Amino acid sequence: MKRLKIDLADRSYEILIGQHLLQKTVTWVSEVVTPSRIVLITHPSIHRLYGQRLVSDFNAAGFPTDVIEVPEGETSKSLREAEKIYDRLLEWNCDRQSLLIALGGGVIGDLTGFIAATYVRGIPFIQIPTSLLAQVDSSVGGKTAVNHPRGKNMIGAFYQPKRVLIDLDTLKTLPEREFKAGLAEVIKYGVIEDAGLFRYLETNAEKILSHDTAALEHIISTSCAIKAKVVEKDERESHYRMVLNFGHTIGHAVEALTGYSSLVHGEAVAIGMVYAARLSQVAGKCSAEVPRRITSLIEKMGLPTQLPALKPEDMIESMYHDKKTSNKKIRFILVKDIGSIEIVDQVAEPLILEALQN
Ligand code: NAD
Ligand code: GLY
Repeated sequence: MKRLKIDLADRSYEILIGQHLLQKTVTWVSEVVTPSRIVLITHPSIHRLYGQRLVSDFNAAGFPTDVIEVPEGETSKSLREAEKIYDRLLEWNCDRQSLLIALGGGVIGDLTGFIAATYVRGIPFIQIPTSLLAQVDSSVGGKTAVNHPRGKNMIGAFYQPKRVLIDLDTLKTLPEREFKAGLAEVIKYGVIEDAGLFRYLETNAEKILSHDTAALEHIISTSCAIKAKVVEKDERESHYRMVLNFGHTIGHAVEALTGYSSLVHGEAVAIGMVYAARLSQVAGKCSAEVPRRITSLIEKMGLPTQLPALKPEDMIESMYHDKKTSNKKIRFILVKDIGSIEIVDQVAEPLILEALQN
């Protein structure tokens, strides 16, 4: 098992990564909190796979534990769903000594984190991410949110968990498409910070795609270490944390214009990274070799590289409405070389159009 620390003064916590972690969840949890009661928030299918055992282990260890099941899908990240959960927590007299555990992918993690941040002005929570995307990205760093009809993640808080438990075994039941979507975020870390990780992905794609445990532990722990470093420098995204949005400016526009239906988030990010790399070349930031390597690795991991049939002008319009857009300027994370990026606060529209039409 690997232990990584995310150093944020009194909000510091550890990320534990390894196999069979869920078998000792009571230990990993009680090392950091002594809750009066526990509420596990999860989806019905994840509850059947992993939750039931956790609930009986906690109850057997003397921690009264209840479960709230929420439906799968992005629509559960809503104030409506949050209100239903607040009702249950109040009904059960949960107080500031109660603990929430998020067991699931990014939807469960973001929703549970948001409830933890707001219920009685904040109660502790623990992340047990079960999708690859949640293990390498959403469970780490304290961004919590629900969606508003006018935009994704518009209502939220920065609120750190007490611990993150990443059990590699849970990836065995993750649908293949979701697994590959998580790999897009791993590729992102290579591009923004770590040429060694990028090379490792190029060389070990087959091992990774066949779920080799050592390879998975390596890429997940390296990704979490990179994210921890970025969040330690800029927890509340005043500037530097934006590097984590490489590929997301175009990715979000693709998601918004395709109605969040045909592509999962990681696939949209994969396409976004291909076109952000092309834009970097068009803007004179990197050689043609950089977009070539990024596109080829994304393809190798079985992820899409082509934009769906969307009008570039509509995409630019959508980028202006992204919550990361400030003062009518479209900000891009451009790549100078693998492992080296630049935050560019304003990229001229003709360059974006050229890259999108490329
Ligand atoms: P998700 O939570 O919807 O999970 C994808 C699907 O996989 C779901 O159907 C889920 O039930 C299933 N699943 C998860 N783990 C499983 C397992 N081990 N076995 C079987 N099925 C499993 O989607 P996601 O990709 O994990 O997360 C996407 C969400 O994360 C979005 O809402 C996005 O906004 C958010 N996000 C947040 C951050 C952040 O920093 N907070 C970062 C990136 C993404
Ligand atoms: N997923 C981007 C961030 O955590 O900042």
